[in-house]
Amino acid sequence: FFCIAKFPGRINGMNAVPLFPEWSPSSWTSRPAQQQPTYKDPAALTRAVDALGRLPPIVVSWEVDALKRQIAEAQRGERFVLQGGDCAETFADCDSGQIARKLKILLQMSLVLLHGMKKPVIRVGRFAGQYAKPRSADTETRDGLTLPCYRGDLVNHPGFTPVEREPDPELLLRGYERAALTLNFVRALIDGGFADLHHPEYWDLGFVQHSPLADQYRQIASSIADSLDFFEAISGSRVHEASRAPFYASHEALHLLYEQAQTRFIPRSERWYNLSTHLPWIGMRTADLGGAHVEYCRGISNPVGVKVGPSMDAAWVQGLCHALNPDKEAGRLVLIHRMGAKHAEAKLPGLIECVRATGVPVLWVCDPMHGNTETTAAGVKTRRFENILAELEAAFKVHRSMGSYLGGVHFELTGEDVTECTGGARGLADADLAKDYRSQVDPRLNYGQALELAMRIATVARSA
Ligand code: PEP
Ligand code: CO
Repeated sequence: FFCIAKFPGRINGMNAVPLFPEWSPSSWTSRPAQQQPTYKDPAALTRAVDALGRLPPIVVSWEVDALKRQIAEAQRGERFVLQGGDCAETFADCDSGQIARKLKILLQMSLVLLHGMKKPVIRVGRFAGQYAKPRSADTETRDGLTLPCYRGDLVNHPGFTPVEREPDPELLLRGYERAALTLNFVRALIDGGFADLHHPEYWDLGFVQHSPLADQYRQIASSIADSLDFFEAISGSRVHEASRAPFYASHEALHLLYEQAQTRFIPRSERWYNLSTHLPWIGMRTADLGGAHVEYCRGISNPVGVKVGPSMDAAWVQGLCHALNPDKEAGRLVLIHRMGAKHAEAKLPGLIECVRATGVPVLWVCDPMHGNTETTAAGVKTRRFENILAELEAAFKVHRSMGSYLGGVHFELTGEDVTECTGGARGLADADLAKDYRSQVDPRLNYGQALELAMRIATVARSA
């Protein structure tokens, strides 16, 4: 892995024969690519991908570089990352109310974390492009009928009919458009002052206002606003960044033709960037060392996340570190561990040790969702608040005991009052899940549960 050329014309600065051919935006096609849909009409696919390649990018390289610098600071313990959003965005969710509510819950959580940890929070949405999903099987059979499985709105539709399940290349363009619409609205809200920390009272609490957390949240909000006013009064200047909380976008870089089409060479830095999002990540099912996703991601200049699960051994994780960050660049690699509450204490020390041994700098982020998915007796996919919290507590504890810094958290959440995860202050039980369960894929924390979790983390992290 040490001989991998990162850019065209550069082979590790030496004349050595590379172990692998040079990277290009399409070099992943020479590797096995998991989780890619099969399209019936290759000409229609080529037309859609070509069109996508001509459209302007959704983000720009300056923003990607800024995020990388901030992640480098987080690696040094100076910042904390809050990454969250839907398991899968849907095209129907691209509506002003839902986007605003998602932004609001992420802002409120970041405010609570900022207040508790006393350090700047990097806000990263799982949005504006989180439209493609890995699945455990290629097909699904119901009553003797076998159809392709639903792979997210970027690929096909959830309805169980042959037409709806047929992968449609045009959806790549529809997904790109919705990603752009979503980020455009997020940017406009923030530029317009939606995220102004002087007025967190505008981020009204909605249905959480009757919860036991409302008072605590209001105190945090007014304490931050007071501190800002005080600082600005004595310094005579505005605290610029605080009044315009920036937001970054992220999604799983799963559908490689989509990612490739938005990959651009930027002459300014002489590097390639994936400009469909700021922070692409590699999911656990597509993290094989010799696979197409690792090949694609090693050549882009974005910060890159990788999910790390309990079945990955030291050699695998170390291989990922070398393949994805051979130059040991700060801010480049984010390892998102998702062990499950049961495995966290046992697995994390070895993981931290083996990454340390590579000398590759990483930002550690805990995803307490994906290792804690279970099915109720009634067959409903859920996650229990107490398991999510237990994994977080274990993660903070293990990192602290090993002199390592847990620099972020990764959640599946929504700004809506859904009933998909159990537990939390309002004590949702298994029987309540039927009330408003909307997710087609993984169960998300609702608004109240997400805010409560932020409050719990702020406490746990302070003592860590
Ligand atoms: C996800 O983040 O939705 C996901 C599929 O996670 P993982 O790759 O960790 O299973
Ligand atoms: Co998920």
